[in-house]
Amino acid sequence: MEKNLEQINTAALKELDAADKTKKVKELSIKYLGRKGELTLFLRNISQLPPEERPKAGQRANQIKKELEVRFDNKIKQLKRGALAVKDEIDVSLPGRTQEPGTLHPITRITREICDIFISMGFDIVEGPEVETDYYNFEALNFQKDHPARDMQDTFYVSDNIVLRTHTSPTQPRVMEKQDPPVRIIAPGKVYRCDSDLTHTPMFHQVEGLLVDKNVSFGDLKGTLTTFIHRMFGSKTMLRFRPSYFPFTEPSAEVDISCVMCHGKGCRICSKTGWLEILGSGMVHPAVLENVNYDTSRYTGFAFGMGVDRIAMLKYGIDDIRKYFENDFRFLSQF
Ligand code: FA5
Ligand code: MG
Repeated sequence: MEKNLEQINTAALKELDAADKTKKVKELSIKYLGRKGELTLFLRNISQLPPEERPKAGQRANQIKKELEVRFDNKIKQLKRGALAVKDEIDVSLPGRTQEPGTLHPITRITREICDIFISMGFDIVEGPEVETDYYNFEALNFQKDHPARDMQDTFYVSDNIVLRTHTSPTQPRVMEKQDPPVRIIAPGKVYRCDSDLTHTPMFHQVEGLLVDKNVSFGDLKGTLTTFIHRMFGSKTMLRFRPSYFPFTEPSAEVDISCVMCHGKGCRICSKTGWLEILGSGMVHPAVLENVNYDTSRYTGFAFGMGVDRIAMLKYGIDDIRKYFENDFRFLSQF
């Protein structure tokens, strides 16, 4: 009977070798390994062997069974591949390899949107360096050396006199040094602070605005920012000017808008207040104008600086500022 087992194996291999269609291989699989297959019957009848032969025969039969299963499988795969080769090696039903089109980063989009609104109001765009001197980042903006307001912005120092700019405001004295009034500019760019949590990252984006001319009043500041916010967030958005302090503006105000999520009712995003802070602003401090030799008896101006990352969060309903910088394709491709 054991010889019979080897005969079954040899016959199966021979037939498999000759098989040239997957259908044929499947038939062979049934013939040898199926419920009434030759090998199956052999295993079923093993009890008829003399007791001392049973273990060895059983082992060998199971080994052959496993090997045949693998060979049948491989043969089917091989035949399928061969069939493809005959059809010009192209399986038109396979999905193609696509190249995903790039999209603009949400920060880029919002920066451009902000700039476009101010360009339509007659502002010019300028840019300043991200590695900045202490003079432009602080001194020229009326922060004296030991001014406690320097602690408002946790500064990255490159050396004693060189910093990573903590805001876009240094573009103000840089522009005014080179140009006489009237000045009407906006300056987008990256800024750096030693700060990191749900709403703060060590690098973020601001857009600075500066307008200096004769007879510029706080009313002009209010009108300009109201127009901007209505265009950015819709004309139903409410604003409030909240008194604040910056060394380079006097008076100073922070601007809050009614929460874009709950429309002022109070929610998690606005900490139940109904309002969200989006920018700092004020009338340019006379000391700043004097530092660039502007005649303060003739000229006044206003300035503002807004956080782009935060505006984009509000506009797109993003709840964690760090998502911008993780390069997660699933996040970025939504925009
Ligand atoms: C300033 O940076 C002033 N330079 C703004 C200014 C300009 C006032 C001109 C007056 C005249 P402040 O530190 O509040 O102010 O930052 C302005 C805005 O930047 C904030 O309202 C907020 O939207 C955003 N911001 C501040 N810190 C971070 C941070 N770590 N991550 C993300 N956004 C931030
Ligand atoms: Mg602030």
